Amino acid sequence: MTLNDIRQERQKWMTWKNIAPLRSALEQLPTLTTQVSAGDTVTITSEEAVDLVELERVARLMMPWRKGPFEVLGLFIDTEWRSHQKYNFLRPHFNLTGKKVADIGCNNGYYMFRFLEDSPSKVVGFDPSALFKTQFDFINHFVKSSIVYELLGVEHLPLYEEKFDTIFCLGVLYHRSDPVGMLKTLRQGLEKGGEVYLDTFIIEGDEPHALCPSERYSKITNVYFVPTLTALENWSIRAGFTTFEVLGTVVTTSQEQRKTNWIASQSLEDFLDPNDPTKTIEGYPAPIRGYVRLGL
Ligand SMILES: C[S@@+](CC[C@H](N)C(=O)[O-])C[C@H]1O[C@@H](n2cnc3c(N)ncnc32)[C@H](O)[C@@H]1O
Repeated sequence: MTLNDIRQERQKWMTWKNIAPLRSALEQLPTLTTQVSAGDTVTITSEEAVDLVELERVARLMMPWRKGPFEVLGLFIDTEWRSHQKYNFLRPHFNLTGKKVADIGCNNGYYMFRFLEDSPSKVVGFDPSALFKTQFDFINHFVKSSIVYELLGVEHLPLYEEKFDTIFCLGVLYHRSDPVGMLKTLRQGLEKGGEVYLDTFIIEGDEPHALCPSERYSKITNVYFVPTLTALENWSIRAGFTTFEVLGTVVTTSQEQRKTNWIASQSLEDFLDPNDPTKTIEGYPAPIRGYVRLGL
């Protein structure tokens, strides 16, 4: 199967019965002259009048909204994650001016909208979620950016028609059952001299060890490996990266992830041990994220 075959196959996801009504709603959105300011809240404004009740109805069809926040023509989408905290943590470490940038696991594109402040030459997002692509299309209808959103996974990077100067892959590694294989695909997606910014759940300790949750970690079923930073470095070396730089570690708190009325499901407070917030509900160390930069 070629990449174009995969693209064509996945385009059919837009006709699924849970997605098709959202796509029809997108087609009814008004065409307005807008301004965009990408601070912590990606904010879209217009001097033209808009039916806010209808706009909110459409946005709520697309719940859950996990990454953000966004303010669309006066409608504040208070997402589960205050993703600006992750963005602001990484911001001092990169400059994307004139670069070809990919965001792998881009969700609804929050970070990609923020990348535009650097005027990169191209921004491409990969995420195999028809719902998150639809959220992206909702926001981008008003932003009108030239960001390319591919319904592809990290596993498709080696086949991709272009290589990237900078790849972000945030919050994806622990979802992969073959983390070294995933790191290799990231390496294969890079231009010569390129770099990868990655964050993942980590456990504390200097040993080259990884936690392997039996069924769930923080109630998430598809978390396979949670490494120490040493284990993560060893995986990176085995994947062919020559530089490994730790940018920092951050404990996830309810300042960053919490239940809002834009998600109908549980959030961090339900995932931690109510008697000991340093542990997950399963008794594992509570989520800490390690941020690293990998180079060739
Ligand atoms: C935990 S979220 C992280 C979102 C965002 N990168 C962040 O850090 O805030 C994981 C994302 O990976 C996406 N995903 C799932 N399978 C994937 C795959 N095979 N390749 C790339 N992304 C994938 C999900 O749809 C989801 O948007």
